[in-house]
Amino acid sequence: MKCKDYSALTQDEQDLVAACWEAQELSYAPYSKFSVGCSLLMSNGKIIKGANQENASYPLCLCAERVALSYAAMHYPTEKIKALAVSTSAALETDQKPAPPCGACRQVLYEYSARQKEDFQIVLVGKNNKCWVYESIHELLPHTFDAEFLKD
Ligand code: THU
Repeated sequence: MKCKDYSALTQDEQDLVAACWEAQELSYAPYSKFSVGCSLLMSNGKIIKGANQENASYPLCLCAERVALSYAAMHYPTEKIKALAVSTSAALETDQKPAPPCGACRQVLYEYSARQKEDFQIVLVGKNNKCWVYESIHELLPHTFDAEFLKD
C-alpha cells in the first residue's frame, strides 16, 4: 500500500476519485448516516459509480462497492475492472487510515478479480485528499476462501 496525495495520482486515478466523491453524494443512508461512494474504471475507459443504499429493514442495506460491481457485471460483462475507488464519510484525522471495504465486500472484490483473471488497483480515499493505493485485493484480503476449496 502506498499513501499518496490526490495531486500525485495519475489523471485516470484522479478522475476515478472525483467520480467516487460524486457517487458518495448519491448515497442513501438515512439510518447509519454513513455515506459511501465507489467508482470503477473499466477497460473501455468508462467509469461506473455506486453508493450505499439503505433500507428500514437494516439487513437489506447494500454496500456501495457491491452496487457498483453488480452494475459493471450487468452493463459491461466483457470489460475488465482496471481500478476501484472508495470514499466514505468516516470522521478520521488526516493521518489515520481511510475506512476500508467491509469483509463481505472484500470477498466479493476477490471474486471479481478472480473471475476476470486480472488484479485491479484499489484506492481508498481518506481525509484531506490522502489516498491509500493498494495494488490488488490480495493486500486487503489474504487467505481468501475461493473456488479451490469447492473442488471434489
Ligand atoms: N458500507 C458500504 O457501503 N461499504 C462498506 O464496505 C462498508 C459499509 C455501508 C453499508 C451501510 O449503508 C453503511 O455503510 C454503514 O455500515
